[in-house]
Amino acid sequence: MQYQTIRGFRASFLDAIADPFYVPEADCMRYLNDGLLVVEDGKVKDFGDYNELKNRYTDISITHYPDRLIVSGFIDTHIHFPQTEMIASYGEQLLEWLSTYTFPTERKFADRNYAQEIAAIFLDELLRNGTTTALVFTSVFPQSTDAFFEEAQRRNLRMIAGKVMMDRNAPEFLQDTAESSYLETKQLIEKWHKRDRLLYAVTPRFAITSTSEQLSNAGKLLAEFPDVYLHTHLSENVKEVESVAELFPESEGYLDVYDRAGLVGERSIFAHGVQLTDREFARLSEAKSAIAFCPTSNLFLGSGLFKLEKAKSSETPVKVGLGTDVGAGTSFSILRTASAAYQVAQLRSQKLSAFQALFLATLGGARALCLGDKLGNFEIGKEADFVVLDLRSTPIMALRNKPFDQTIPHTLADISDQLFATMIMGDDRAISATYIMGELAHKA
Ligand code: GUN
Ligand code: ZN
Repeated sequence: MQYQTIRGFRASFLDAIADPFYVPEADCMRYLNDGLLVVEDGKVKDFGDYNELKNRYTDISITHYPDRLIVSGFIDTHIHFPQTEMIASYGEQLLEWLSTYTFPTERKFADRNYAQEIAAIFLDELLRNGTTTALVFTSVFPQSTDAFFEEAQRRNLRMIAGKVMMDRNAPEFLQDTAESSYLETKQLIEKWHKRDRLLYAVTPRFAITSTSEQLSNAGKLLAEFPDVYLHTHLSENVKEVESVAELFPESEGYLDVYDRAGLVGERSIFAHGVQLTDREFARLSEAKSAIAFCPTSNLFLGSGLFKLEKAKSSETPVKVGLGTDVGAGTSFSILRTASAAYQVAQLRSQKLSAFQALFLATLGGARALCLGDKLGNFEIGKEADFVVLDLRSTPIMALRNKPFDQTIPHTLADISDQLFATMIMGDDRAISATYIMGELAHKA
């Protein structure tokens, strides 16, 4: 891919440089009212106050977004591309929802061309919503994984994905075997992992649909390829947890099933964790694993309220990112997901500040995916994936978020207030543009 060697972006900027769940917000957030981001070869070359930097960059082309806020690209730490077309399917909780809607839909992804068509729609929808990186379930069919990676590669995206492994408790047409899933996954890792910006995640669906033998093979793959990821579901729904206890009577709980197979490590991302015990939080903390918090999905399927304050405790801190979990999640928008996260916190008598939510959506997500050195803010050398936000994208949001009076100094509290309203009310309409490695990838 060819980049215009060096170019600048002038706007207001906000990014997180530390974790506001543990560090005072004033020390975590960088806000530049009039900032300049300089991108060279797709990476951040310089970042700071426009007036301080402009004399150093007199001969570069600068794109100016007055009245816009640029933030780091959003990171979706859990989503299913084959479920794009079945979003908002009525009436069921997890296990019935899977058999009624999900499995018949995923069957279609045996068709490589169909998978490619949906992958293109899916990735364009992520970009329309300001999501620049995602951790993605494909389907059990390796050709659907190829299709996904091809479309992501075409768009030069940093994406992590994997073929679903599932060898029991699902319709015959959707099952692989312990052996075939091992071999197909290995081939896909060799083909796609670290190709351009792409990364591979070994992806057993969840404990219910894998035999112990298949889970052991997943562990074997992680041992053979130590820098690939592990991506699965964990403790989402009460009936699911009960079923896992019956299927694995020797295990001391759901997480222990994965632990015994060697699947619980620093590059492991577990979706949901709504029903986790304190002991399991402690184990995830010890293993430095991550949880994808998927609030719209947890509400939609009636799964429950994730204990974010438990994951972000000082005693047993666990890395957390936000996940849409489309198609159980109800929106591709990380703004809407942050809004649901706020409401889940409220239902538990907790607070989630705008800056904490922005952290989860950017640097926190990057850290959950072990990509904190490459993504998540505007530190020099990082990949320049970013979003141009319109804080006044609807008439009511324009009424709520009045433009700052530039003659009065405004504070981090002002931007926190406007960002909060944007998260609560905002959606794809708030995304004016999305840039990938400094190149325009979506424009409203
Ligand atoms: N658990 C196992 N498979 C799935 C899935 O496709 N979606 C969700 N939300 N949970 C799961
Ligand atoms: Zn999921």
